[in-house]
Amino acid sequence: MKKGGRQSLLCGDPPGIVLRDSADRPSYSVDDVRDRVVLGDTFEVLRKLPPESVDLVFIDPPYFLQLPKKRLLRWKVRTAVEAVSDEWDRFPSFEEYDAFCGRLLSEARRLMKPAATIWVIATYHSIFRLGKIMQDQGFWILNDVIWVKNNPMPNWLGVRFTNATETLIWASRDKDAKRHTFDKRLAKQFGVGKVGANVWNIPICTGEERLKRAGGGKLHSTQKPEELLRRVILTTTREGDLVLDPVAGTGTTGYVAWSLRRHFVMVEINPKYVAGIEERFARGRQARPGPASPIA
Ligand SMILES: C[S@@+](CC[C@H](N)C(=O)[O-])C[C@H]1O[C@@H](n2cnc3c(N)ncnc32)[C@H](O)[C@@H]1O
Repeated sequence: MKKGGRQSLLCGDPPGIVLRDSADRPSYSVDDVRDRVVLGDTFEVLRKLPPESVDLVFIDPPYFLQLPKKRLLRWKVRTAVEAVSDEWDRFPSFEEYDAFCGRLLSEARRLMKPAATIWVIATYHSIFRLGKIMQDQGFWILNDVIWVKNNPMPNWLGVRFTNATETLIWASRDKDAKRHTFDKRLAKQFGVGKVGANVWNIPICTGEERLKRAGGGKLHSTQKPEELLRRVILTTTREGDLVLDPVAGTGTTGYVAWSLRRHFVMVEINPKYVAGIEERFARGRQARPGPASPIA
């Protein structure tokens, strides 16, 4: 480590919350990964974790938007339009996308405690496929929750409705799973009706909350709003629970879990995003000075 400076994520042992996966590491205990983001391929990492060890899973998988790179990504005045054109969102076919998500879901299922639940979020491009895969694997769907964005990206071409929603599927591990966590008192605050309805109005992530690249611009194209994760985590976990996000992006899940006094384990393959997560936590700790460990 450089004196007085921060160690680069790309050389040597990563500092702080980051744990770099390596091939010579055959397994991890929960203690090894608790409150860490593991830099590595999620399939390599998840298979090394012990079964029935997490209380909640949140998965925000690639969308597989299938956007042609040039035509849709530029508006006529050459303003870059927000869209997911990243390499990680590209799959050769639906079969390969389904195989990726199916594998991710079954690995996650193996790690869920019997009473654990899982949230999966996606747009219309893939949520129906994900729902079928989940049901085929034995998950039991408890709800779909519609996230209504009150500041959606417009449909620039004007050939269809502006898509202002994403869908979250909330499911238990098995049909017969009992005693999953659900805080109906809090759920009521987030929607209309006796227990709170499954429609959440939340703006997309902008402003200060949005992680930026060094030269400005967004670090990640699909960073989720903290308020969305706050609702998920508050209603379906208890303090001290362990929350898993196997495709963490900017680490919104772990960051919100930490701020709500839950534990987390995240996995992300891209070192740029992992560096962003590390900085996010460093800033969060400055804003909320206290114990070195997120949950003391
Ligand atoms: C939709 S984004 C998640 C965004 C995140 N929820 C947030 O709020 O920032 C999906 C992420 O999955 C990551 N990913 C894709 N394949 C992966 C793999 N095999 N292992 C780990 N991460 C992977 C991508 O790098 C991308 O950051």
